[in-house]
Amino acid sequence: MSQKHLVDAPDDGGDTLTSLNDNGFLIPNFPDGQGIQGVRSVRIRDDDVLICTFPKSGTHWVWEITRELLTGEITHDDVTMSQTFMEMVPEERYADLPSPRILSSHLRMKHLPDDVLNKKIKVITVLRNPKDTAVSYYTFLKTIPFAKYKGEFKNFLRPLFQGKFMYESWMDYVLDWELVKKTNPDQPVLTLFYEDIKQDQMREMRKICEFLGVERTDDFLSKVCDNTTIAAMRTHKNKGHDRSSVFRKGGVGDWKNWFTVAQNEWFDQFYQEKMADCPLQFKYTLLSTDTVH
Ligand code: A3P
Repeated sequence: MSQKHLVDAPDDGGDTLTSLNDNGFLIPNFPDGQGIQGVRSVRIRDDDVLICTFPKSGTHWVWEITRELLTGEITHDDVTMSQTFMEMVPEERYADLPSPRILSSHLRMKHLPDDVLNKKIKVITVLRNPKDTAVSYYTFLKTIPFAKYKGEFKNFLRPLFQGKFMYESWMDYVLDWELVKKTNPDQPVLTLFYEDIKQDQMREMRKICEFLGVERTDDFLSKVCDNTTIAAMRTHKNKGHDRSSVFRKGGVGDWKNWFTVAQNEWFDQFYQEKMADCPLQFKYTLLSTDTVH
């Protein structure tokens, strides 16, 4: 039987953030959400592409890039990531979309339909450095009415990384995907890093094309770059569920404007403890000379 109840988790200052405990895992209390059981029963097609991310890792950006690369068309299509966000909307909203669909989710693999693994559909995971992810998540959660959160950043960081809020721990999310890849070596999974796309979007898009099995000219790729800048997406993708807070700054290193020295020290220590065995390296800053336009 399905068990769901709201949880008001306090931050370090006593302000609470509301999540939905859906059978033991914290998710947002989406007004139309189909919950984990709904997601588990979504009918997966062989040619679905699935974008999996921890919140605020660049989901909307990579979803749109993938859509343009897959269709070979640069259009300001009405279909946005929000319409295929599996846990947020009922399946009927994306059940009849033409193939190939690009689905998305912030859930863990065990919450996704079994056919993701059975049918070996293509999965793109996008990871972002946890410090910028935390800042982006904080600013976003304050705008979400159903999170009911009014706390300060200084009180948010520790409970966030301890997994007290919706989608729980960033570290567990990253480690979970590393394990899924290890235990399912024949599952097609492409792991991208937000900072790498910022650094050289053409290079990262070529990886996506190869993964999807599509060939696109450099001229086309460069048009996709122009059409998926944060300014362009703010203009074209800001309707429906996509709020302007989704397209906030779009950079690398904003965390330096938010983390105190003490928070940074706490975080680095906590990271070492939790991620000691994880070989992934995250970039926390990009020099302008690192970036290819
Ligand atoms: P910031 O809050 O740091 O600006 P998600 O789509 O997973 O919710 O992630 C949102 C984050 O990605 C936000 O980060 C947002 O600004 C950034 N983002 C969205 N579109 C982007 C784009 N076209 N280019 C770069 N970053 C983008």
